Amino acid sequence: MTKMTVRDIDVNGRTCLVRVDFNVPTEPGTGRIIDDSRIRAALPTIHHLQTNDARIVLCSHFGRPKGQVVEELRMSAVRQRASDWFGVNVVDAGLPGDAVDPSQVIVALKPGEIAMLENLRFDPGEEANDAFFSKALGSLADIYVNDAFGAAHRAHASTVGVTEHLSAVAGYLMERELKMLTRALESDERPGVAIIGGAKVADKIQVLENLSQKVDTLIVGGGMVAAFLKAQGYVSGKSEIPDDEVHTAGELLFSSDAKVITPTDVVVAREFAEDATPSVVSVTKVPADSLVLDIGPETRALYADEIIAAKKIIWNGPMGVVEWESFAEGTLSVARAVAAVPDAFKLVGGGSTVSVIEELNLRSEITHVSTGGGASLEFLEGKVLPGVAALDDA
Ligand code: 3PG
Repeated sequence: MTKMTVRDIDVNGRTCLVRVDFNVPTEPGTGRIIDDSRIRAALPTIHHLQTNDARIVLCSHFGRPKGQVVEELRMSAVRQRASDWFGVNVVDAGLPGDAVDPSQVIVALKPGEIAMLENLRFDPGEEANDAFFSKALGSLADIYVNDAFGAAHRAHASTVGVTEHLSAVAGYLMERELKMLTRALESDERPGVAIIGGAKVADKIQVLENLSQKVDTLIVGGGMVAAFLKAQGYVSGKSEIPDDEVHTAGELLFSSDAKVITPTDVVVAREFAEDATPSVVSVTKVPADSLVLDIGPETRALYADEIIAAKKIIWNGPMGVVEWESFAEGTLSVARAVAAVPDAFKLVGGGSTVSVIEELNLRSEITHVSTGGGASLEFLEGKVLPGVAALDDA
């Protein structure tokens, strides 16, 4: 699926509505932006549009206000941070239907200047992919540029509906994300290793199934481990695991095309608590009154051996409860192992996985750190993302 990009069209003197994903994480209470990498990731597209004298109208969602105005979810802090990064004052343009019509702000923009709409999800028409709201968005510009890879799995007015009204092209970030994720799935770099963590088998089953046909080895971690232990006939501790998850884990273990590697030892604790006492046990000896909260040291070494030999690595999801120090080492060791692999294509996606890479300052060792959580997961599941499908074909 090849799509038109912002480089394929003449933007000079035109007004471009640029859908970005500035849904950045903020500190509860203060609203302070914790990580602005999604804002920085828009820089190449902004730079292209500015140097080609386009007028820029940014739009994004922020949080989940459910179709109404929520004061803490206004774009003001994001707009300020964007102004800092883009080197111009990003002007507030409100939303279609507001007292001040956004088109009055937009018409005053000079080439290279930037305005930003208010949180798109303040309008119920956004998530409903409402025809009227889509048309109103379309009326604000001459060209639509989608650089919001992180929202491409949502069929909303600003990702799908608006494309009925304007030429619709991909921005630089969208283009790079699609190129890298396509390479992760389709390239024949081997051996290919996928490391998949996460709480439940049900959340990751589709990605595990799709990747089992795309890589040589699947490495499993996170809360899912308990289901895989049970499927191998071991005691999996006191967490309740639905039978269908055990069944699915068994199918992957015993009939998948890829080699599936699961832990040989795990870190367990009696309670699900940050200060719970951790202990390392073999997977054959998990106490029935314990919870599996991380992979153990022997497993960390086993996984590192698989990872170091890889030429292609896809990583999504933590190996344990990474937020708690006593149960974080599995995830940290996988991050270090992935970073240490020389000459391999390495793609990392998923919120907490990406945070670990950032915290350890390992971003430069990874070929591509995806800005999309749900979007990258759905792509790796083999799904067509509606926000991508809606763009003009090249
Ligand atoms: C994300 O953070 O994954 C995207 O911005 C999508 O947000 P959503 O899950 O609220 O649609």
